Amino acid sequence: MLAQRRIARKLASEFLLKPFDFSGVLRSNHPRPALNNMKKIFTVTLALAFGSFAIAIADDTNNAAAPVPNLPPASTKTGVTFDADIKPIFDAACMNCHDSKKPKQSAKLSLDTLQGVLKGDRDGAVIKPGDSAHSDLVMVIAHIGDPMTFMPKGRGAKKLTDDQIGLIRAWIDQGAK
Ligand code: HEC
Repeated sequence: MLAQRRIARKLASEFLLKPFDFSGVLRSNHPRPALNNMKKIFTVTLALAFGSFAIAIADDTNNAAAPVPNLPPASTKTGVTFDADIKPIFDAACMNCHDSKKPKQSAKLSLDTLQGVLKGDRDGAVIKPGDSAHSDLVMVIAHIGDPMTFMPKGRGAKKLTDDQIGLIRAWIDQGAK
């Protein structure tokens, strides 16, 4: 532990602090200007660090606006509702694990009622009404992202069809009514 910390400190002083090592300059006859220079360099470095942080955040928002590859298109059907269009899909594929009438629901998520879906799981919302392309539920049924999260789960579970996923997308895009 201690040795590791010593090595880390040495690395830090060798590689990170060297560029700021103005001790030679500071020992000169005019220490004040040198100090001011150091302050300036520090300010510029800080500004650069914050700048790249801001760019990283901006990049993220740009990515969020980009289309998600491998996502089946939303159905063009209008007037899609949970009760008429979506509940039958969930009833057939998800009730082994997400049924509010059973004592336990996986991830504390119920998919047999509209309120249950809107309430979400133990971590909160799983759909974003109006934005199916950024709804977690759509990602897990379209098998995008971490395979551990793909739904439905379980032995012999079959991925929903593109038409079913498209209908669920249309329902969310139309406000999840
Ligand atoms: C065999 C059981 C099982 C079936 C069937 C099942 N799920 Fe799940 N579901 C789980 C488990 C377990 C979790 C928690 C996963 C975790 O913790 O990674 C989960 C989590 C979820 C989540 C939250 C995922 C996240 O990462 O936020 C969603 C959304 C979800 N399921 C949707 C569905 C849908 C839609 C269906 C039907 C098409 C379905 N599940 C069918 C077991 C199941």
